[in-house]
This record gives sequence, structure tokens and C-alpha cells, in this order.
Amino acid sequence: MRAPTDVYSYRYTRYGDADVLHRHQVPLPRPGHGEVLVDVVTSGINHMEVFLRNGKEDTWHDDPWPRGSGSDFAGIVREIGDGVVGFSVGDDVIGHVRTGAHATHLVVPATHLVRKHRSIEWEVAGGLFLAAATALDTLDDLKIGADDTVVISAAAGGVGSIEAQVARHRGARVIGTCGERNFDYLRQLGIIPVRYGDGIVERIERVSRRPVTAYIDNFGKDGREVAEALGVPAERYRSSEDRRDVELALLRDDPDSVAHATRMLQQAADLAAGGAFRLLVSGLYSIEDVVEAYEDLHRLHSRGKIVLATNPVTRVRMLRARELFEAMP
Ligand SMILES: NC(=O)c1ccc[n+]([C@@H]2O[C@H](COP(=O)([O-])OP(=O)(O)OC[C@H]3O[C@@H](n4cnc5c(N)ncnc54)[C@H](OP(=O)(O)O)[C@@H]3O)[C@@H](O)[C@H]2O)c1
Repeated sequence: MRAPTDVYSYRYTRYGDADVLHRHQVPLPRPGHGEVLVDVVTSGINHMEVFLRNGKEDTWHDDPWPRGSGSDFAGIVREIGDGVVGFSVGDDVIGHVRTGAHATHLVVPATHLVRKHRSIEWEVAGGLFLAAATALDTLDDLKIGADDTVVISAAAGGVGSIEAQVARHRGARVIGTCGERNFDYLRQLGIIPVRYGDGIVERIERVSRRPVTAYIDNFGKDGREVAEALGVPAERYRSSEDRRDVELALLRDDPDSVAHATRMLQQAADLAAGGAFRLLVSGLYSIEDVVEAYEDLHRLHSRGKIVLATNPVTRVRMLRARELFEAMP
């Protein structure tokens, strides 16, 4: 385990781009009643924390400064406060927190944690929470099942790739929008790829073979018009704004919201461990390269998730499948 002197978190003192994030050396936090101290191993990055950091999203604008960053994490229980049942020192856990996950150590109520299955890699575990819980909430809300033909936009991205695979797992026929570079990736997952951009309605109609019954727009560009043109009933269309609401609800820290978020995280972990979906981590960065990691996310072409590691084996960034692909003549 890391020496207790080497304890830090990434925080920001004003709204802005990722370079407002700075490393703050902090004392080792101690767990209080019902709380657990976790040695963070991996932590995901999400667009929502970008919107909170740059001020585009003003929910929680009263939060004190400096502010923490990040809501997904996985790690090892280092210490437990009194009154905690169900977790012991040394347990591998996956967790969620409204903000502050981009840190080496985290104190959270035990209600924010689930056990990490041994079969889930640390990289995947750290990036699981917000993307998978958003995907599951959206599929449940639309009651996606075996009778559906569903179109999912940005299907190669963090949320979309989980939505698409779990919809398949539920028996739906799934059409995913992406760039051509992701066609093979989606095909490998049993998803029918369709290129986004002009002519998308005709391209979807060409491959759908039956009426499209639901449309999930992750990207937030022209989804409503496309869904209407395809004849998707209005009540079976979910916009990027709907997704915003789902994500904010998952981040709320009142007890009912936390309990729901933890249930969704548990379901996500069970589904991942059971092979219902594979979360591809296409960028694994040292937490010290958090600014570069967000710049990568900002390019809007990551496949699956981008994840930070607090103690990577090497500072050299993991070679990403998409870079290999793009380097090919
Ligand atoms: N409204 C909100 O509050 C809200 C909340 C969260 C996220 N979002 C937005 O949702 C989007 C996806 O989120 P995510 O977390 O899944 O992101 P992500 O992992 O960053 O998604 C990246 C994916 O988007 C695809 N993409 C790029 N341009 C596209 C286009 N014009 N149409 C369809 N797909 C396109 C890329 O595919 P290719 O590489 O194949 O092009 C890539 O696989 C982001 O743009 C994000 O800003 C909105």
C-alpha cells in the first residue's frame, strides 16, 4: 500500500478547462461512523464532471471551493469506521461519489460501495459507475427488450457501448451510430454499425429490416429529427438532455438517490462479471496525466472509456487500439 505521506487529490479553485485541475497534497483522511477509507486504484473520467468543472452545468454551484473531480472509482479498503458492516480491510471495492474520486485515497459512506468481482479488471472497475448506471437506467426507463429494434447514437463511446451490449443481452436488435473506424468494433459486439451524418435515416432504414421501436441519443446533435423520420414513437425517444437528468440523479447524495445509484452499480458489476457486456478501456492514464486524459475525452472519439490509475506500473500511457488503427496506412 502507498505510504500515508503520499496522499493527494486533484482539485480546482475556479471554473475552466482541465488545466484548472491541480494536485493538492492532503492529510490521510480518516473514516468516521459508517464510513470507509479506500486506497483508490483506478478512477474513470466522464463528460458530466467536465460540465460541472467548466460551469456549463450549474447544479451544485453552491459547492465550496476548492472542488474535487470525478465520480467513479475502484480500490482497496484500507480502514473502516465504526458501525460499518459488510466490508473489511483489504476488500476490493467499486464505488461512486458525487465528486472527488480523482484522488489517491477517499473516505466515503459504506453505502456508496459494492464488492469488486475478481473477474473485473481494475481498469474496467474504475470506469464502471456513471457510464454503466446511466446506460442501465436508460434501458430500464425505455423497457428495452426482445421485441425492440433500437438505435443508439455514439454506440462506440462509454455510455453507448454499454447500452448497446446490454440491449443485445436483453434480446433487442441494436443499431449503433459511429464513425467507420468503429464498424468492426461494434460488429464484434453484435451491434449493426451505421455511419452518422447526412443520409443517416436512409442508412438505418436499409439495415433495420423492421420498424425502429426506440432511439437513444447520446451525442445530442440531430437525434430527435432522425428518430421522428424513422417513425419512433415520441415516448420511446431519449435525448442527450434526458441523459443529463439521469446522470445528475445518479450523482445526488440524498439517501434514496445513493441507494439507487449503488443498486445500479451492483447490477452493472454483476452484468460485467457475467459477461453481458465488456467495457473496453481504450485509454489508461496515470492520474498525474489527468489533464491529458480529459483532452483525449474532449476529442470525442474515444472508444469505450478513459480511465486514470493512481499507481500505474508505468507512466508510459497504455497503447490504445484506436491509435494503432489510425497509424495504419
Ligand atoms: N447533455 C448532457 O448533459 C450530456 C451528458 C453526458 C454526455 N453528453 C454527451 O454525450 C456524448 C457521448 O458521451 P459518452 O460519455 O458516451 O462519450 P464518449 O465516450 O466520449 O463518446 C465518444 C464517441 O462519440 C462518437 N461520436 C463522435 N462524433 C459523433 C457524432 N457526430 N454522432 C454520433 N457519435 C459520435 C465517437 O465515435 P467515432 O469515434 O466513431 O466518431 C466516440 O465513440 C458526448 O458528446 C457528451 O458530450 C451529454
